[in-house]
Amino acid sequence: MFGDGVYEVWRVVNGRLFEPERHLARLERGLRELRIDARDVANGDEIDRIAERLLTEDGLLEGEATLYLEVTRGAAPRTHQFPPAGTMPTVYAMANRFAPPEELRARGGAAITVPDIRWLRCDIKTIQLLPNVFAKEAAAERGAIEALMVRDGVVTEGSHANVLAVFGDVIRTHPLDHLILPGITRAVVIEIARELDIRVDETAFTEEELRRADEIFLAGTTSDVMPIVRVNDRPVGAGVPGPVTKRLFDAFRAHIDRSCAAVHTSP
Ligand SMILES: Cc1ncc(COP(=O)(O)O)c(C=O)c1O
Repeated sequence: MFGDGVYEVWRVVNGRLFEPERHLARLERGLRELRIDARDVANGDEIDRIAERLLTEDGLLEGEATLYLEVTRGAAPRTHQFPPAGTMPTVYAMANRFAPPEELRARGGAAITVPDIRWLRCDIKTIQLLPNVFAKEAAAERGAIEALMVRDGVVTEGSHANVLAVFGDVIRTHPLDHLILPGITRAVVIEIARELDIRVDETAFTEEELRRADEIFLAGTTSDVMPIVRVNDRPVGAGVPGPVTKRLFDAFRAHIDRSCAAVHTSP
């Protein structure tokens, strides 16, 4: 109740979780910030066990899937404050087949901008996502795949992905602070860009600057690197996926395939 919990979504390829430690670290941090003690379940061994069982029973040990795990404050009489000490957190998990949106990636998607009306702890991956739901719905109603949120004139992130933009030979994105989710994909993409000698500047850009971006792309667990080719019905750059975005996607995909390549074996 009350959106009082945190969640994680892992990409799974051939039964292997992508970047398991980074997702676990973000989950542990979120639980600490919310003061939910779920060490019995939110630890690497237990998550591996849950993943193993779900992926096996759901027939998802081959190909692409996602693993969703949510930890909420637990079952207790409904009061607004925390329940009595010792209340067991509730854990829910599911695994689903996933098909990466390759056709969309080839042509790129549209985005709109919306006011960022969220609270001031967007760095915690809480299940309290109504502003994101409304933002994504507004995008869908206008035939767009994402809503880019704008706070005080500055672009923060999308409803379900981080946003990066190419200006000349530099990629810019909002810095890690309380206004955005520290996306795992964002972190990996920045590392890959730097390996490719592409400059990354974690300095936010305004909505006005966004209009002059040469390329814009999303970074997220189910988006990978996704080109945005129109914003508010205006073309971005040439209006087609740009070369930096394509290069980063190719390198990112190769990285996923490499890190999830080992053949899956049951413990
Ligand atoms: C608001 C928001 N920002 C960014 C992201 C991207 O994070 P990640 O790359 O860890 O999936 C998500 C993912 O769900 C999100 O909901």
